Amino acid sequence: MTFTVTVLPSGVSFHVDRDEPILTAAIRQGVGLPYGCKDGACGSCKCKRLEGRVIHGAHQAKALSEDEENAGYTLTCCAAPQTDLVLEARTVAGANQFPVRKMPCRVISIHRPAPDVAVLRLQLPANDKLEYHAGQYIEFILPDGARRSYSMANAPHLQADKPSIELHIRHMPGGRFTDHVFGAMKEKEILRLEGPFGSFFLREDSDKPIVLLASGTGFAPVKAIIEELRFKALTHRPAVLYWGCRSRVDLYAHDWALQTAREFPSLRYVPVLSEPRPEDGWTGRTGLVHQAVLADLPDLSNHQVYACGAPVMVESAQRDFVALAGLPADEFLADSFTSEADKHGPGA
Ligand SMILES: Cc1cc2nc3c(=O)[nH]c(=O)nc-3n(C[C@H](O)[C@H](O)[C@H](O)COP(=O)(O)OP(=O)(O)OC[C@H]3O[C@@H](n4cnc5c(N)ncnc54)[C@H](O)[C@@H]3O)c2cc1C
Ligand code: FES
Repeated sequence: MTFTVTVLPSGVSFHVDRDEPILTAAIRQGVGLPYGCKDGACGSCKCKRLEGRVIHGAHQAKALSEDEENAGYTLTCCAAPQTDLVLEARTVAGANQFPVRKMPCRVISIHRPAPDVAVLRLQLPANDKLEYHAGQYIEFILPDGARRSYSMANAPHLQADKPSIELHIRHMPGGRFTDHVFGAMKEKEILRLEGPFGSFFLREDSDKPIVLLASGTGFAPVKAIIEELRFKALTHRPAVLYWGCRSRVDLYAHDWALQTAREFPSLRYVPVLSEPRPEDGWTGRTGLVHQAVLADLPDLSNHQVYACGAPVMVESAQRDFVALAGLPADEFLADSFTSEADKHGPGA
């Protein structure tokens, strides 16, 4: 049995099988609904249900509270329709541009630019470059079918002559995949991935100045977006990168960011350390990275923000930018790096 889901105001409609999450069907049929984690943890897929009934699977209360659920809000990634539905959701232009594909890949190199960061280069099958928007992510499919998501750190045009992607992976001690990356993983290892996924990519239909906000390895998709801004010479949109880390050693691509800002004058770079060490000799900005943005840009009413990294940073930025700096809610685009801890820990 299938149900019809209609999305307003675009009027686009698609079919969803009984017991199938709405988002799974939308991705399969190339309908560009906004989303991030695909797993009930980040809230990026939340939309208003205007007609019809759904059953929600497991999700985090932070992503959808009981009050929101009672008011008709729906997480498309973990809700299955029980009737035909009408949803109110913005659709994302370009989200269906590239096919989602499964492919093997080979680890070409593993670098450790910081104690808890690994930069992986992965070779894709020859003549089989992965098409994606800068900012999107892939999922590794682990042997038992479990999945882990990582954002491409290189813009797609940079794999023109050799199909390869770059990932920046932070070690989460006790974490299933990252313990392997920081332990037994060797060059030439074969992994299986699927992608591209996600709605975190440059909205080229906007002329607004851009705030790029990253914490830790949230820098990865932001780096890809910067490479794309440069490649497309989108100099009419001034961009400022705020990158927040704990201490100097965690700013693992500081020199890259400094040099890129020198070479691409429409980009400014503001590194912010939350816990600088005495030996860092740090004279730059300190504190929480999203608060540095608010201090410099108290009026965000005419900006577009791309935020990526730790869930707590993304949630704080979304809340404060909208409430305190007048950022229109639709102009906050984010990927929150949720993990098993977010999905199964307190609040899940
Ligand atoms: C869209 C998206 C893009 C992402 N991109 C990146 C990226 O580019 N770079 C990056 O570094 N990360 C990224 N992430 C995060 C990444 O997908 C993983 O969640 C992260 O690397 C941890 O994976 P893991 O298998 O090592 O840890 P997991 O097995 O997920 O465990 C994570 C932590 O939770 C604990 N834990 C495990 N199971 C439970 C449980 N049942 N209850 C409570 N705690 C538990 C573990 O001990 C560990 O500390 C992204 C996430 C999303 C959603
Ligand atoms: S995509 Fe649905 S909660 Fe993250």
